[in-house]
Amino acid sequence: MSAQAFPGSVAQLRLAPMQPEDLDAVLSIENTVYPHPWTPGNFKDALQSGYQAWVAREEVGNVLGYFLLMVVVDEGHLLNISVRLDLHGRGFGRALLARVVSMARELGLASILLEVRPSNARAITLYGHAGFMSIGRRKAYYPADENVREDAIVMRLSL
Ligand SMILES: CC(C)(COP(=O)(O)OP(=O)(O)OC[C@H]1O[C@@H](n2cnc3c(N)ncnc32)[C@H](O)[C@@H]1OP(=O)(O)O)[C@@H](O)C(=O)NCCC(=O)NCCS
Repeated sequence: MSAQAFPGSVAQLRLAPMQPEDLDAVLSIENTVYPHPWTPGNFKDALQSGYQAWVAREEVGNVLGYFLLMVVVDEGHLLNISVRLDLHGRGFGRALLARVVSMARELGLASILLEVRPSNARAITLYGHAGFMSIGRRKAYYPADENVREDAIVMRLSL
């Protein structure tokens, strides 16, 4: 796949397939935006599994965010969507999610599923405004502090 293969509705984001050489930049974002980040091995496994893994870059070339979408038959599972910490709150998350949705439509998917921590108010707002509906909870899904686990809210968007 080439860069810009999915023009989508938010043309100003420059997307390219995530490559192994992007992992240093991706992990540096991952480690600053999540208390319990994915490991290098998680990303390598995801790339080897052929998931839709894309990075968005600033004009100067630095990675500003990324997402990973696992496709199973006609359903996409949004495994990770992240924006660099210094750029939070400027609409990049919304733009990136719009690209996920347009990509899923181009792939002919019927729906996108995701999990989100109930404590992640910004992400829940982002997904809600994009039309995702809460469809349930997974108990003790996420690691949290001091051996406590946090539930996940499961959200779904019909395409
Ligand atoms: C979640 C994330 C991707 C959103 O990206 P972002 O660029 O910061 O988000 P945006 O600026 O596009 O704002 C998204 C929405 O959240 C709203 N928002 C901003 N700050 C908020 C807050 N503190 N509480 C609730 N909503 C908030 C915005 O108003 C916006 O709503 P809008 O679509 O009506 O404008 C980003 O914050 C991030 O990388 N967080 C860490 C990783 C993460 O949690 N990923 C999601 C895992 S499920």
